[in-house]
Amino acid sequence: MLKRKLGRTDLSVTPLCFGGNVFGWTVDEKSAFGVLDAYVDGGGNFIDTADTYSVGGSESILGQWMRTRNNRDRIILATKVGSQMGTDPHAQGLSRQYILQEVEASLKRLQTDYIDLYQSHRDDPNTPLDETLAAFHDLVQQGKVRYIGASNYSAARLREALQVSDQHGYVRYECLQPAYSLVNRANYERELEPLCLEQGLGVISYSSLASGFLTGKYRPGQNLPSSPRAKRIQERYMNEKGFKILEQLDRVAEAHHATVAQVALAWVMARPGITSAIASATSVGQVRELLGSVDLKLNDEEGRTR
Ligand SMILES: NC(=O)c1ccc[n+]([C@@H]2O[C@H](COP(=O)([O-])OP(=O)(O)OC[C@H]3O[C@@H](n4cnc5c(N)ncnc54)[C@H](OP(=O)(O)O)[C@@H]3O)[C@@H](O)[C@H]2O)c1
Repeated sequence: MLKRKLGRTDLSVTPLCFGGNVFGWTVDEKSAFGVLDAYVDGGGNFIDTADTYSVGGSESILGQWMRTRNNRDRIILATKVGSQMGTDPHAQGLSRQYILQEVEASLKRLQTDYIDLYQSHRDDPNTPLDETLAAFHDLVQQGKVRYIGASNYSAARLREALQVSDQHGYVRYECLQPAYSLVNRANYERELEPLCLEQGLGVISYSSLASGFLTGKYRPGQNLPSSPRAKRIQERYMNEKGFKILEQLDRVAEAHHATVAQVALAWVMARPGITSAIASATSVGQVRELLGSVDLKLNDEEGRTR
C-alpha cells in the first residue's frame, strides 16, 4: 500500500490508520488479533490507540498482538495521554508528573520501549503548555517517544503550543488528530485545516466513518444495527442532513462499483492536508472493505462534495 509522510516527521504511514478504541470494548482479544492481522495483511502499518480506551485494555491487546506476531518494528504506533482513566478524577490531564507516570504505564501495556507518535488526547487548560511540552521534549530526548501530536485542540491553542515549542526549543506537535468526516466538517475546515497546512503538520482524522453511520447501514425506516453504538449514532446523525449525504454517497459508490464506507474514507483521504483517515472495524470483513478505500480515486467533482 502506498505510504504518506506524516507532516515533517520521518514516519511513513498508510492512508488508512486502524483505530484501536474497539479493542476490549466491541472487539474481544481473540477477534482483535484477526482484525489486526487482516489490516496488516492488507498493507496497513499505522495503528492509533489511547491509554484510556477500555482503561488500558486496548493498549494491552495491542501489546500482546505485537509480541506474538513479533512485528513491533513494522508498525507505526500512536497512543495518547490526558483523557480520564476510568473513574479516578486525578488520572487525567497533561501535567509533567502525570505524563511521565502514564507513559511508563502505556509502554508496559504495549510491551515496547518506544511510542512513534505520543498525543495529547485533549487540551488541558489547567496545565501551562510550557510544562506539558517540556515533559514531552524530555521523553523524546530519552528515546521513549519519537514524535508528539495533539488531538481535540482549538486552532488558537494549537498555534500557541507551536509558539511555545519554538520559543523554548522544545519538540513541537507534529500532527493533529481532529474529528473529521463528511458529516462533521466545519470545526476542522474553518481554522484547523489552514493552520495545519501553513505549519506543515500531519493530520489524522478520527471518526472518519461517523462511528459507522457513513457505512450506509443506518437508514430511515430500517431497524438499527445491533452495534452498542447504534443509539448514539441515531441521535447524532440520523437526520435530514445525514441522509442527504448518504444519498450522495450512494450515487458515487454506484458509479465506482465501490461501497458507501469506501467512498466516505476515500473522500477524507483526498482532502489536502489529511495524511491518514483513522477508522475502526469490528470484524475481518469490515477491515477488508475499509482497505478497499485506499485505491479508490474520486474525480474532482466527487472529491468536492459540498
Ligand atoms: N482523539 C479522539 O478524541 C478520538 C475520539 C474517537 C475516536 N478516535 C480514534 O478514531 C478511531 C475510530 O473512531 P470510531 O470507532 O469512533 O469511528 P469510525 O471509525 O468512524 O467508525 C467505526 C465503526 O463503524 C463500524 N464499521 C466499520 N467498518 C464497517 C463496515 N465495513 N461495515 C459496517 N460497519 C462498519 C464499526 O462499528 P460497529 O460494527 O459496532 O457498527 C466500527 O467500529 C478510534 O479507534 C480512535 O483511534 C479518537
